[in-house]
Amino acid sequence: MALADPLFLSSSAALSAAPSGQSSTLATVSVAARVERLETLDGFHRVALEGWARAGASRVLFALPGKRILVASIAKDQVDTLEQTGELVDADTGITWNRMRIEGWIPEAVAEPQIDPIWSAAWTLFAERCTACHQRRVPDHYTANQWRSLIKVMGPRTGLPEEEQMLILAFLQHHASDTIVLRPNTRTGAVIAPGR
Ligand code: HEC
Repeated sequence: MALADPLFLSSSAALSAAPSGQSSTLATVSVAARVERLETLDGFHRVALEGWARAGASRVLFALPGKRILVASIAKDQVDTLEQTGELVDADTGITWNRMRIEGWIPEAVAEPQIDPIWSAAWTLFAERCTACHQRRVPDHYTANQWRSLIKVMGPRTGLPEEEQMLILAFLQHHASDTIVLRPNTRTGAVIAPGR
């Protein structure tokens, strides 16, 4: 068994302290977040999750420093569970970002070995539901942080459940003007190609 295989969440899920739906929740992990699988037991994967938190705001972890792509919200009483693994000062803003790591259990049913099927589902929602009032927008015409603000307004206009709005947001943020080159492993050329 290879250690630390990447897995991607097909829906948001609780990160639990033990392999059971009854155990305490350490964090809520976002749809499309990447985690590393450490072991599998009783229908759960034990995973490690890493993300970037703004110094002094450790409960909210983002995929990249300064780019507000939500990967996890840590439970209030679990901030001490986080381990700091790195630090970076954003030269543009002077803000310090801490790389944080947490381990816990997620249900096997929400974990995909590949991101592509998750992005396909996101693309379908985006192409069908974000074109009711205007033409389809181009993901990399906006930055990841601009998409976050835009989806606050545009998401509810689709009438979709919040989970699906968050999936569209994650897709757009990972294919934004300032992330697409940083994350070549999340490119979905085949899915996006028809629209670009
Ligand atoms: C119910 C109609 C409606 C739906 C559905 C809708 N939009 Fe919009 N969108 C608008 C309108 C109207 C504007 C023009 C600006 C405004 O009034 O907010 C707009 C503008 C935009 C802009 C340009 C904003 C700018 O300032 O450059 C983007 C990008 C956008 N929408 C993305 C989306 C995405 C992504 C979705 C799906 C999650 C979506 N829209 C769904 C009505 C809609």
